[in-house]
Amino acid sequence: MCSGRGTNLQAILDAARRGRLGARVAVVVSDRRRAYALTRARRAGVEARVLDPRPYRSRAAYDRALARLLAPYRVRLVCLAGFMRILSPGFVRRYAGRLLNIHPALLPAFPGARAVRDALAWGAKVTGVTVHFVDAQVDHGPIIAQAAVPIRRGDTEARLLARVHRVEHRLYPEAIRLVLTGRTRLAGRRVTVR
Ligand code: GRF
Repeated sequence: MCSGRGTNLQAILDAARRGRLGARVAVVVSDRRRAYALTRARRAGVEARVLDPRPYRSRAAYDRALARLLAPYRVRLVCLAGFMRILSPGFVRRYAGRLLNIHPALLPAFPGARAVRDALAWGAKVTGVTVHFVDAQVDHGPIIAQAAVPIRRGDTEARLLARVHRVEHRLYPEAIRLVLTGRTRLAGRRVTVR
């Protein structure tokens, strides 16, 4: 599920095409009609669906519609890749253990929508990327994989973002593969990888 450019989606599509995921992408869903991610999906021959939140009266109602949209695809995993909406507890419960997110910082540092900018402004020397299971709190669930990205002297937000993205594009497909091949075990907050 994506709201924007979909560079992480592209990395997932590419990994799937090369047989590196052990799975295929069944459907790409966006809350925004103009999301470039939809174009990437169509180009890869993957169904692209839009679910506009505006007609829905509540978050829970939208999320129920989202679950209805996804149901026929019988997906094993739901991957958030720049999906800019908070999901309701009902949706999170329905996909518990099968709902992944990628965040452009080393959680629990710098949660939220401006993680790269925040890490730079804080003066951190290292930031990075986190792939985690989604729970009811934002940028909070059990961590599957993390990778560090050094912050260099003279970095601008754009330069740091570009390096963070490169790491994201490697880490997300890897983490998806770990989950899909049954190599992750979840116990409380801790994910162990075999
Ligand atoms: C990524 O930085 C991801 O970590 C965050 O949203 C951004 C999405 O970028 N959750 P893109 O649409 O995949 O290019």
